Amino acid sequence: MRRQSALDCDLETDRFHLRRAGRVQTFLLTRRWRRDPELLEGLFLSPQPHSLIGWWFRGPNPNGRSRFAHAIVAKSSGAVIGLHIVVRQPDGSAYCHVALHDRAWWGKGAVVETRARLLHHFFANGVTRFGATIDAGNVPSIFNYRRLGFRVRGNATTYHRDPLTGRGRPAVELELRREDWLERSSGEPLEQ
Ligand SMILES: CC(C)(COP(=O)(O)OP(=O)(O)OC[C@H]1O[C@@H](n2cnc3c(N)ncnc32)[C@H](O)[C@@H]1OP(=O)(O)O)[C@@H](O)C(=O)NCCC(=O)NCCS
Repeated sequence: MRRQSALDCDLETDRFHLRRAGRVQTFLLTRRWRRDPELLEGLFLSPQPHSLIGWWFRGPNPNGRSRFAHAIVAKSSGAVIGLHIVVRQPDGSAYCHVALHDRAWWGKGAVVETRARLLHHFFANGVTRFGATIDAGNVPSIFNYRRLGFRVRGNATTYHRDPLTGRGRPAVELELRREDWLERSSGEPLEQ
C-alpha cells in the first residue's frame, strides 16, 4: 500500500504494532465488529447497523491524507485486537476513535499505550490540537483521555442522536493541545 503522506505510516509501541490500514482493509477487518452494539457506538458512532453498501459509503474511509486507520496488532500473538481511527481537520486539529474488539484486552492499558504513540506522531507532523466529544456514559473512554492529559472543556451533546429520544446524549468535551503534550512528554523529541 503506497504511503499518501508523512502521517500515513506504521508505528510501534512496547507491546503493539500499529499497522496502517486502507479503506478495503478497514472494511474487511471490521465486518464482524459492525454487529457488536458496543463497537457500533464507540467506533462507528452509529446506534444502528447499516446495509453493506451503506457501510461502504459511511466509513470509516481512511485515505492516508486526512483520515487514518491503524490496526492494533498484539506482538505476543500477532492478532489484530482493535483499531484506531484518526481524522485530521482543515484547521489543523484532529479527533480519534478506538475500539478493542478483543475483550480479553480490555483493562490492560492497550488504548493508552497505543494512543500515546499516535498522539506523538500526529503532533510531530503538524496537528496542533486533539478534541473529543464523548458520551458521558462511556466512562472507560473518558478515563483514557484524561490519563493522556486531555482537559475537560465543558459539557456538550453527542453528534449522533439517541434513537429513543431523537436527541444527542449528554457528552463531555475534551481537548489536548500540542504544547501541553510536549510539556508532558518533555525530553522525548518529536520525530522529524
Ligand atoms: C473504550 C475501550 C477501547 C476502552 O478499553 P480499555 O482502555 O481497555 O478500558 P479499561 O477497562 O481499562 O478502562 C479505562 C479506565 O477507565 C476505568 N473505568 C472503566 N469503567 C469504569 C467505571 N464504570 N467506573 C470507574 N472507572 C471505570 C478503568 O478502571 C480504567 O482506569 P485506569 O486508567 O485507571 O486503569 C473499550 O471499552 C471499547 O472498545 N469499547 C467499545 C468502543 C468504544 O466505546 N470506543 C471509544 C470511542 S472513542
